[in-house]
Amino acid sequence: MIVGLTQADDAGVFRLRKDLAIVQTVDLITPIVDDPVSFGMIAAANSLSDIYAMGARPMTAMNIVCFPSDTMDIEILRQILAGAVAKLDEAGVAMVGGHSVKDEEIKFGLSVSGVVHPDKVVTKSSAKAGDKLILTKPLGTGIMNTALKAGLLDDESLALVTKQMTALNDKASWIMVSLGASAATDVTGFGLLGHACEMAENSGVAIEIDSEKVPLIPGTEKLAAMGLLPAGLYANREFCETLVQLETTLPTWLMDALFDPQTSGGLLIASPPQVAGEMLSRIKKAGYKEAAIIGTVVAEQKNRIILR
Ligand code: CO
Ligand code: CO
Repeated sequence: MIVGLTQADDAGVFRLRKDLAIVQTVDLITPIVDDPVSFGMIAAANSLSDIYAMGARPMTAMNIVCFPSDTMDIEILRQILAGAVAKLDEAGVAMVGGHSVKDEEIKFGLSVSGVVHPDKVVTKSSAKAGDKLILTKPLGTGIMNTALKAGLLDDESLALVTKQMTALNDKASWIMVSLGASAATDVTGFGLLGHACEMAENSGVAIEIDSEKVPLIPGTEKLAAMGLLPAGLYANREFCETLVQLETTLPTWLMDALFDPQTSGGLLIASPPQVAGEMLSRIKKAGYKEAAIIGTVVAEQKNRIILR
């Protein structure tokens, strides 16, 4: 076992041969957008993301379906699956099967297996002081999805947030591997600060984040200021607020955005400083236009995160 339960990471990694390891993950979500095809795409991109966060290549996937087949048209499930298959095709991943159960609420996700060279695994526990931190997607999906549920999200914003959530982390992952990233994780349910905390703790370092540099989906500020905050955001704040040291006063909406739980969020990559500029420019060129260097890894101290 290269990565297992003792040092929890984005996915499990098991060595099959000296030069080959299998990487496995599973993820399941409830609908966040009304369009079933888009939901299938988001769920697939979200499930694949943990494989990419390990610097691995996804190969096969299996559906996990909970569906109220007594009360809901089966055509909706067909569309969810069509969305997922479209994303898997884009990722070059084969759908090999799956399992469904009858349930009151729709839930959908994938169990994904991938491969990686055992020496090339990128964990979240090897960030080093001096590394630059790159975030590849803007934050705000939790806040936007809360606004959507409240009927307060305009079509333009819905299109923006859907585009972010359906975007694969594949190319950013290849680039970070080819340039030798120190560590990486994907930003999901614990929000940027929660996942940064985890990376800092597992790596035995602290992380400075320049809050002005953190990319946000346009509209996040307005909706957060209106108080459209998902329940998970409060839990995230409670969980890691004591590990965060504020070097400046930040507006409440910005703090909220930094704790906002993400669905199918971007990669948070710790890059050796000498290649960070090139890594960022290649990531941007690959289509992650909002990607940014948002901070620096520093030596361990009392607080895990220093916010400037
Ligand atoms: Co993850
Ligand atoms: Co996960």
